[in-house]
Amino acid sequence: MHSINVKVVAILLAGGKSERLKANVPKQFLKIAAKEIIEHTTDIFHNSPLIDGIVIVCNPNFISHVSLLVKKNNWTKVIALVPGGRTRQESSYNGIQACPTNTKYLLIHDSVRPLVTENSIQQIINALEKYKCVNLVAPPRDTIIQTTKDGKFIRNIPPRELIKRGLSPQGFHYSVIRTAHEMANNDIVSNISDDCGLVMKYDLANIFIVTGSENNIKVTYKSDIYLIEKLLTLQVDSQKDRL
Ligand code: CTP
Ligand code: MG
Repeated sequence: MHSINVKVVAILLAGGKSERLKANVPKQFLKIAAKEIIEHTTDIFHNSPLIDGIVIVCNPNFISHVSLLVKKNNWTKVIALVPGGRTRQESSYNGIQACPTNTKYLLIHDSVRPLVTENSIQQIINALEKYKCVNLVAPPRDTIIQTTKDGKFIRNIPPRELIKRGLSPQGFHYSVIRTAHEMANNDIVSNISDDCGLVMKYDLANIFIVTGSENNIKVTYKSDIYLIEKLLTLQVDSQKDRL
């Protein structure tokens, strides 16, 4: 592990079992636009000059597969490859514990969001100079409604400008997110679905929001694959045009 100058670390979460999108492999390993989804995502962080180290948290059955990908792609920034836990929260914590002690800023990202941009990574890291916790967001496409407890009627329609979709990466001062996870671990809380949610639960920092790209879609259902494939292909083509 070459941890001496590691200041900004990205944790890429690939520990999920992909229960909503059933395929022959967990969705992060599906091949689209010539590469596996996890390869598209890791390439973006590996190519970013702002990222010093990468920790991949991986479904335990795919550790050897991911270590082959690390070799094949020459991802020299990968400093650890650790097994995921039962929940996203547990997987995040495993990644946090694998970070070098001199980590200053940590970005936690879903490996199944291969359309994250270098610009969003930059904006999050800039915001971390001022804030301890940052969430990337996008405006909602639809009006969001809140229902009554029984789910049968509309209870409230919150003003659109106050509603955002929470995306990843989420950025943190390392000590803050580590503390949040240690507190949750002591409380036996294990199923908070995102890391900013933990910081909020323990009121450890104000969470600043940075607006990201509308296209930063998470692969959740099969239809997302088609959309992402199209968007990735368009990107690759426009890169070719520029060469
Ligand atoms: N994740 C993880 N460890 C878990 C659960 C999720 O690292 N125990 C990761 C996933 O691999 C994914 C990200 O968290 O990159 C977002 O989770 P989600 O889209 O819910 O993926 P899955 O949990 O795999 O899918 P599903 O909920 O449909 O089972
Ligand atoms: Mg899940």
